[in-house]
Amino acid sequence: MRLRNIRGKDEIAKNHPKIIVNTSDYNGDLRKAFENSNPLHIEIGSGKGLFIKTLSEKNPEINYLGFEFNEKVIQRNIIHQLKAHIPSNLFIVDASAEVLRCLLPNNSVEKIYLNFSDPWPKPRHKKRRLTSPGYLDIYKTILSQEGEIEFKTDNEELFNYSLEMLYQNKWSLFECTNDLYHSEYLDGNIQTEYEMKFVHMGKKINKLKAKPYK
Ligand SMILES: C[S@@+](CC[C@H](N)C(=O)[O-])C[C@H]1O[C@@H](n2cnc3c(N)ncnc32)[C@H](O)[C@@H]1O
Repeated sequence: MRLRNIRGKDEIAKNHPKIIVNTSDYNGDLRKAFENSNPLHIEIGSGKGLFIKTLSEKNPEINYLGFEFNEKVIQRNIIHQLKAHIPSNLFIVDASAEVLRCLLPNNSVEKIYLNFSDPWPKPRHKKRRLTSPGYLDIYKTILSQEGEIEFKTDNEELFNYSLEMLYQNKWSLFECTNDLYHSEYLDGNIQTEYEMKFVHMGKKINKLKAKPYK
């Protein structure tokens, strides 16, 4: 994702009512950002935010947090998605998935979305993949008893790697397709920015849902 610098970007994010920059203000529980105790769903790597904004508008009874660690991308998010009406059940968090355990209590999240995560193809970078064992452990800690992850990618290598990691770490798979757009799972699908691009290019979209063994 190539992005131009935006003047005053740090200030825009710090002062934006829907961007959480100072995560330490919430004492390890970002659910305090919401004025209710509705179920919490999160997205890791929200990019420009189309997916999570659409989802939060469709489901006002669910609280959403979109985690994004690239500040320039957050700026784009503000410009593209958060400039007009901002649902009260959505916040974007300027933080990496690595620190999720410090930001949310154990068993507090019902669903984690991973959409078109960076593939990190080089073996020496594999720990950075958002479905590597270290991240799966973090997700397992914060997910509720019935919690699940939902993962979409155009990248076959990353998808196969993810299936292998889920299997090795004893997660159970309950939805899986190598071609979402010609599958029974397409109904209700919400596109992300990357997904629109890849579908337009004629690429197949892989999707899975999985639950950790608890
Ligand atoms: C390839 S983009 C996909 C964006 C969006 N999900 C979509 O499908 O259009 C991946 C995004 O994940 C973010 N990201 C990667 N690793 C992350 C991490 N550990 N924590 C938070 N965000 C991360 C990147 O900065 C980037 O914006």
